[in-house]
Amino acid sequence: MRLLYVMTATMVATLVSTTALASKELAQKSACLACHAADKKLVGPAYHDVVKKYAGQKDAEAILAKSIKAGGSGKWGPVPMPAQTALSDADATALAVWILAGAK
Ligand code: HEC
Repeated sequence: MRLLYVMTATMVATLVSTTALASKELAQKSACLACHAADKKLVGPAYHDVVKKYAGQKDAEAILAKSIKAGGSGKWGPVPMPAQTALSDADATALAVWILAGAK
């Protein structure tokens, strides 16, 4: 029983860290990190500020996935974000989930 618990915990931990890594790699690969950082404003807003702005919105994931793909302007400042046309819907959602989880 105890062994089973340890095994499950290890599996969950592995799963969680693999997902986080995959999304960070995805953000790197998609050049998001050229304009964004987790904790400071670069060209675009810091991902931690994005989390604050959308905290408590239940459809935050869908809103962000959409604005990641479509790009946008005027929400954060005068600089627009270009549309990410090469990104699949699944990748846009994965990035939205990763950002809302703190972009680690
Ligand atoms: C050329 C620079 C640039 C790149 C590349 C870029 N962004 Fe942005 N991003 C911005 C700017 C500028 C804004 C603010 C736009 C605004 O004011 O509405 C922004 C806004 C955002 C927001 C907030 C959207 C909202 O609706 O509030 C998210 C989330 C985001 N970017 C994620 C990403 C992800 C994920 C990628 C990679 C696929 C990416 N960005 C690539 C510049 C960039």
